[in-house]
Amino acid sequence: MIALSLAEIADVVGGRLHNSDGGERVSGPVEFDSRQLTEGGLFVALPGERVDGHTFAARAIEAGAAGVLAAREVDAPAVIVPPLPPGAAHERSVALAGDTDGSGAAVLAALGKLARHVVTRLAEGGLTVVGVTGSSGKTSTKDLIAQVLEPLGPTVAPPGSFNNELGHPWTALRADESTRHLVLELSARGPGHIAELAAVAPPRIGVVLNVGSAHVGEFGSREGIAKTKGELVEALPADGVAVLNLDDPLVAAMAARTKARIVGVGEHPEATVRAEDVRLDEQARASFRLVAPQGAADVTLGLFGEHHVGNALSAAAVALELGSSVADVAQRLSAAQRRSARRMEVTTRADGVTVLNDSYNANPESMRAALKTLASMAKQRRSWAVLGVMGELGADTVSAHDEIGRLAVRLNINRLVVVGQEAAAMHHGASHEGSWGEESVLVPDTDAAIALLRGELRPDDVVLVKASKVAELWRVADSLLEGDNA
Ligand SMILES: Nc1ncnc2c1ncn2[C@@H]1O[C@H](COP(=O)(O)OP(=O)(O)OP(=O)(O)O)[C@@H](O)[C@H]1O
Ligand SMILES: [Mg+2]
Repeated sequence: MIALSLAEIADVVGGRLHNSDGGERVSGPVEFDSRQLTEGGLFVALPGERVDGHTFAARAIEAGAAGVLAAREVDAPAVIVPPLPPGAAHERSVALAGDTDGSGAAVLAALGKLARHVVTRLAEGGLTVVGVTGSSGKTSTKDLIAQVLEPLGPTVAPPGSFNNELGHPWTALRADESTRHLVLELSARGPGHIAELAAVAPPRIGVVLNVGSAHVGEFGSREGIAKTKGELVEALPADGVAVLNLDDPLVAAMAARTKARIVGVGEHPEATVRAEDVRLDEQARASFRLVAPQGAADVTLGLFGEHHVGNALSAAAVALELGSSVADVAQRLSAAQRRSARRMEVTTRADGVTVLNDSYNANPESMRAALKTLASMAKQRRSWAVLGVMGELGADTVSAHDEIGRLAVRLNINRLVVVGQEAAAMHHGASHEGSWGEESVLVPDTDAAIALLRGELRPDDVVLVKASKVAELWRVADSLLEGDNA
């Protein structure tokens, strides 16, 4: 972050100094974990489920911290943040386990103000903030955008999916005067969340990928989800750019909700940045012709699955906006690698069994994308889909699982292993869809799935493993790959 004294930080967050004359200078990044601190950092004391960060304040100073952002007085130079009004505290505390009195929410609100202050100052000096939202593919696209922007200048992006009330300001405060691009993922559990995150680090370029049915339980409908995702483009300034996926009508309609210039992307003929002639190789990696007003060039993605075409186009639109040539963007997209774990991680074992580990998370759209990728990769090989529950779908839960089971049959997946009673509707959907008998099985848990696969997998089979996080299906993928040195 930029260097600031504790007095300046107190001023920005509306807090008061404690054990400090205000002169201590924060020059390093912020950390929630006192063990991660580096010289000159700011320790952010948050309540936790088991321990309260405030008890580590002195240790953080020993580790090099210049000061502490805290909800109450601590044994160290600190800025004590103001409390939140009771309603606001409750609403925000949801993100923090153990925040029984709203003090953690107050610290996070103050951290958000600090991030906004720092990012706004850096933006005046030429930093561009890029925000990405959508129901599926935020992390993958954030990683692609970072890879196409890095050659243009120093780029800060969060690791993995660190995109909530903690991760957002934490990442934003890693930017300093040398940073040219800050790439952030914005996710929402309810109305107003994207607007709040956008206020913490105001984006100039906003990317909306798709509106699916993830979290539909909390939002009520896909239109409700679209309303919230659109808060990103509403936050853009008049000299900003909204990158919208025209292949998704609910995203295309967001054009009416922003002052910013629109850059449409997709296979849609009206898209400004387009993919033409999309093909998949035997491993389901896409090639296409990238067509933009500046010219055209061929892209061959190293990522698995056709759904990455749209993600890549969004990344291309951002890079072209920031001065890349079409040829450079095409070359960087082709060289881009998967950066975040358990998202279509493809590994082939010594015995030829290929494992598609997509166990990080799931919703109906990413399940469909993964099953299509499995079908296109397997071809003549025997295919397995080991699938678990998709969470937070509210009243759609049974029908969404039923449809995935039916899709597995229609795509000619050879064996479906449904893991856990919560996902049983997938098994029933598959059984009702047609000629299936033994092809679909319902097993109670991951151990049973592992035992079944150990007994029945044959060399050269292809296995997809996918479910929402709660199902912990990575245990299955990890077990399939255990001890394999291929
Ligand atoms: N454009 C897309 N359409 C459908 N599925 C996608 C798309 N992009 C990625 N996916 C799949 O969605 C899953 C999650 O990908 P990723 O982690 O990039 O998304 P995310 O939006 O960040 O998810 P989360 O909300 O869990 O953070 C993966 O299985 C990935 O293969
Ligand atoms: Mg994510």
